[in-house]
Amino acid sequence: MPNKMTMYAIIAAFWLAFLAIIGVNLIGNTVMFGSPLHSEHHPVVKFGFPIEVVEAAPTEAGGAAARVSSVPLIAAASLDEGTAIFKKCGSCHTAEAGGANKVGPNLHDIVGAEIGDHNSFKTTDSLIAIGGTWTYEKLDDYLENPKRLAPKGSMSFAGLKKPQDRAAVIKFLMSNTQNPPAIPAAAETPAEAAAAAAPAAAAPAAAPASTNPVSH
Ligand code: HEC
Repeated sequence: MPNKMTMYAIIAAFWLAFLAIIGVNLIGNTVMFGSPLHSEHHPVVKFGFPIEVVEAAPTEAGGAAARVSSVPLIAAASLDEGTAIFKKCGSCHTAEAGGANKVGPNLHDIVGAEIGDHNSFKTTDSLIAIGGTWTYEKLDDYLENPKRLAPKGSMSFAGLKKPQDRAAVIKFLMSNTQNPPAIPAAAETPAEAAAAAAPAAAAPAAAPASTNPVSH
């Protein structure tokens, strides 16, 4: 009989311990993660915080990936500011008429000029491969990061990351260009992009028609 009583006591003790553990867990969870009644009083904020960071990360990355053109800022940009920023270029470039080529070509009349070999300076094939002329968009792109348009180009310049800085220096280059082309109006830029994309879109559409003449 005493043995049986001992058994009951042990079983009862286990149950009590079990219930106590569950009870501590419930209280613990309430304290840590917050119930509606206690949320203001406990460090619930700390648990929410890392989640906010994770959510913010992709947004930031997306923002950095999208290139911000400085072209709409050129018209209102300050020439004085541009003259000051050009000092960063001045170790390698002059801009006045008849100025010497240095590490890079003299940049007089560069806006709207043919890309590459400016002022008889021998530029790299990578720069020449950009093709066409120095439109405002291409200048803006090149000056933000010279290696993007000319990956093997020789202009060892980190680039002007701030759109305002690029707009100002482009304004300075315009002031050293005899007849700079008109700055495209903000509305023209997307239209230009659409026009450029149109032939690319038309090409694949034409291909299936030519491979299957019967279908018409
Ligand atoms: C460390 C020297 C250096 C600095 C600083 C520098 N450049 Fe250059 N730049 C060059 C060289 C070298 C080339 C020729 C690049 C090539 O051949 O790939 C060049 C090419 C260019 C071209 C194209 C010329 C052509 O023939 O079509 C432009 C435009 C230009 N630079 C503008 C600038 C501006 C604006 C700045 C300042 C924001 C600047 N560069 C800063 C060395 C420099």
